[in-house]
Formats: sequence, C-alpha cells, structure tokens
Amino acid sequence: MSVATVSTAPIAGQKPGTSGLRKKTAVFRQPGYLENYVQAVIEGVGGVEGRTLVVGGDGRFFNDQAIAIILRMLAANGAERAIVGQNGMLSTPAASNLIRKRKAFGGLVLSASHNPGGEDGDFGLKFNIANGGPAPESTTDAIFARTTALTEYRILDENAPALGTLGESRLGGMIVEIVDPVADYVTLMQTLVDFDRISKLFASGFTLRFDAMHAVTGPYAKAILEGALGAPAGTVINATPLPDFGGHHPDPNPVHAAELFRLMFSAEAPDMGAASDGDGDRNIVLGRGISVSPSDSLAVLAANIHHTKGYAGGLKGIARSMPTSRAADRVAEKRGVELFETPTGWKFFGNLLDAGRVTICGEESAGTGSAHVREKDGLWAILLWLDIIAARGEPIAAILKEHWKTYGRDYYTRHDYEGIDIATGDRLMADLRTSLASLPGKTFAGLTVKAADDFAYQDPTDQSVTRQQGVRVLFANGARAVFRLSGTGTEGATLRVYLETFESDPSRHDHDPQEMLSDVIAAADAIAGIRERTGRTAPDVIT
Ligand code: G1P
Ligand code: ZN
Repeated sequence: MSVATVSTAPIAGQKPGTSGLRKKTAVFRQPGYLENYVQAVIEGVGGVEGRTLVVGGDGRFFNDQAIAIILRMLAANGAERAIVGQNGMLSTPAASNLIRKRKAFGGLVLSASHNPGGEDGDFGLKFNIANGGPAPESTTDAIFARTTALTEYRILDENAPALGTLGESRLGGMIVEIVDPVADYVTLMQTLVDFDRISKLFASGFTLRFDAMHAVTGPYAKAILEGALGAPAGTVINATPLPDFGGHHPDPNPVHAAELFRLMFSAEAPDMGAASDGDGDRNIVLGRGISVSPSDSLAVLAANIHHTKGYAGGLKGIARSMPTSRAADRVAEKRGVELFETPTGWKFFGNLLDAGRVTICGEESAGTGSAHVREKDGLWAILLWLDIIAARGEPIAAILKEHWKTYGRDYYTRHDYEGIDIATGDRLMADLRTSLASLPGKTFAGLTVKAADDFAYQDPTDQSVTRQQGVRVLFANGARAVFRLSGTGTEGATLRVYLETFESDPSRHDHDPQEMLSDVIAAADAIAGIRERTGRTAPDVIT
C-alpha cells in the first residue's frame, strides 16, 4: 500500500450551503476539486484516523467514481472502516440510520437532492455527524476554513473495490464493508408504523401510486410497499434509479411530478398519490382530487401521530423551519406542547431531536421527519400517512378537511424565481433588510405591515446564534410574506418568496391558494420590487 500526498492549492467557492456542497457535476469533476473538498472535510471534522464512516449516495452520475475517490482518501487518512451501500446507493435517511445504528463517526452522503443529475446536472457532497444528521454550522465553517488553506491531500495508490458485492474487503489498512442499503431501513420502519394494519388496508382495496422519480427510493419503496405491505405490483412507478433520473428533476412538486398530480386530479385517481425526491428525504402526499401542502402535512401528522404505532405516546413538541406555514403552531398550541421555529435546513432540527424536545419536525419544502433518524425522511412520512389512514379509516381529503375545520386553514404558497442574476438577488435582499425599520405602518396592495424583521435563531440547546435567515413581513390581518435566497442552487440566485394567510371560516376552506393569496402576492412584489428588479413577470416554480 502506498499513500500519495498530492500537493494542491485552495479552490475558491467550496463553501457548504443549506445541505453541504452543491455544484454542477462538471465542477466536481475538475481535477482535484472533489479531492480538495474531501480532504477539507476530513480535516474539518478533526480527522478520521481509526474511525468508521458511512458512505453512499443517490446514484446520480459520478456517484460511483466519487465514492471510489472518497474511499481511497478515507483509507489514506487512516479510517478504520467504511460502510458503503451496495452499488454506492444509500438514501439520505437510510444513510442517517446506518450512521446511528453502526455508531459510526459520521458519513459522507453524495447527493444534490432534488436537483437534476447527469453530466450537465448537479452533484453534491454532505458530511453527517455521529447523530446521523447534517453537520452543524460550527463544523461546516471548519470545513470551509480548511478549503481555503489546503496545501495537500492524501489518497491511496490503489483501486477501490467494486461496490456490487456484499461483504468486506480491504483497501490499504481500511475495511470496506458493502451493505444492503434497504434492509436496515425496512427494519427501522417496522418499529414505527403498523405493517399489519397497513397490509390490511391494501388488502381491502386501498390504492396508492408512488412515484420514485427514477431516484434512490425506488428499491426502498418496492421492498416496503409492494414487498412487505403487499400493495399490488405497479404501485411504485419509475422505480429504477437512473444516473440522470430519466432526464427529469427528481423533485416531487407540481411542476416536476406533473404526471402524478394530473393523475390524482383525474377520474382514474387512486386513493393516495405520493412521491419522493432524488435522495429520498422529501415527500409529497396527495389524496383523490386534493394535494396536501407540506406545511399542512406536518400539522396533520403531528395532530394524528398518536394513532401510529411508533408514536403512540403522543406529541412532545413540534419544530418547523421559519418559512413553513404556521399550521403546525396551531396544533402545538392546542396540545400544549412546545413549537420551535428554526432556520431553513435540516441541520437545525438535530439538537432539538437529540434533546428529545420534538416528536416531529418539518419544512415547507416537502420535508418531514422525527427522531428515528436525523434527516428528513420521504418514505417514512408516506408510511406514517398510511398508518393514520388505516387507523382512522378515512380518506385523505376527509382527514385534511376535518383538520382545517378544527384548526383553521393556513393558505400557503411558495414562489421561486430561479436563475436570477446573483447581484440582483443580493441587492434585492440587501434593500429589503435596509427597509425593515420603515415598513411597519405602510400599506401595500391593501395590506398594512405590522412587523418586519430578519430572522435570527438562537438554538435553545447550545445557545448558538444564526442570523440573516430570511426577511419576514407580517401583515396586520395575520398574513405573512417571507423572502430568502436559496442556499442549494448551482446557477445564479434563486429567490424564494413564501406567502401565507389564515382562514378560520370552514365555508372558505375550498379555494385555490393562489386566489386566496393574491393580495399577499401583490404586496410582496410591491415591497421587494421583484418584477421590476428581475424583469420576470411570473415565478418559475409555484408550490
Ligand atoms: C431547500 C429547501 C430547504 C431544504 C433544502 C435541502 O433549501 O428550501 O427547506 O432543507 O433545500 O433539501 P434552499 O434552496 O431553500 O436553501
Ligand atoms: Zn432531498
């Protein structure tokens, strides 16, 4: 075995964002780019000597080649064992589970989530810590600092083993253990939801269409839904993971999962529609003729979690990211449990979950999770819905409508303006921040501003403070507009505008959110000058 110490120089821009480092695949494939970043990760987390790490990804183009490089570098840096998903595949929640179950030091998760894959698509790499969750900012800051000071990286002069065969082999002084990516995850799910009850639901004729979007959840969904739970073959569609996700964006929203949305609003709709994203951490749930907004999904799951097998003890607390609607707050209030409002990104939930302060957490961007792992978990959320449907014996639409009747409805939408000029995006946010103090009392599109601020979060467990997490504008009638720039994009800037308004009257619960929010949408545009500054007349994606 020989370890090569390769001289290098810092590469600009290797700053981890909302979910690790995301770049164009072509950027990651530049000579030394991945190597530099991996060495910075290894050093930023305090070294890997004698440690066990989990490695796996969503199978997108470059996944296997990147894993081979990572394994050679882990071995060269003295790691004792690498636990790798077969063929390099591990969904993000399954990776989180493996890290926890095997008491690993951490894991390297290769994914750009819902972003498109392929040679011209996106790639990403994220470090997860021993609790199974994304590294906190103190760690990602340390990694970034290393990227700016690197002078060499270490790599083994030996080929990494092929990833197709289960079992152990040696790479230098390191053991490479190839594991079934699905098995442990299925075992975990069996402890959380009632497989017998859900099997009976399917046996009684309940129909589901799960769109795996040619991404990593296909094998998991097949094994659980069509295997263990006995749903008919064909329940899971687009089940084969492909390096380019079949040329689509593996993002389960109305734009990229258009086929599923069309089906669910057609005469042929099954009882439930569901989909997950590239790396399996997101979920979307639809009933016949109705789609459940992710913010509502969090609230409904929280309100019903006592019906499920793994959470029969009930609700301890709820956490949501700041831009997520306040539907969950109403459940927390009624149940007398704590509600935490965190910055965008899953890493902020980790401490709350570790401290046992929340049972469920979620984001408006189709993410829901609990303490079973330290990532959001797409298939888990879908299974939780199935368990609740089976327990209550009611269709999704009835469950949702009854929820609105009890708690009121938070009409919600997110408007994304993608690929705008970075300077324009930065200026828009900077000007918004400057105008904060002068906004209260002013009226835009008929709505008077009550309060406005730039969201900052103090973690209640370690007191760390994170600032500048999005501009919030609260109107006198309770409506809200939030503005922030995406931290996961790879091209230009993406402006996200989150809009919501509350409606308590059940006779007004059946409207189109875009229509109910038209005044908030107009006010947000007037406040931020979106159209004028970007030249766009409409958002690129509405969710
Ligand atoms: C987006 C979502 C955010 C999610 C993240 C990773 O981040 O908005 O909720 O945690 O992807 O899946 P953003 O691009 O907004 O920074
Ligand atoms: Zn994802």
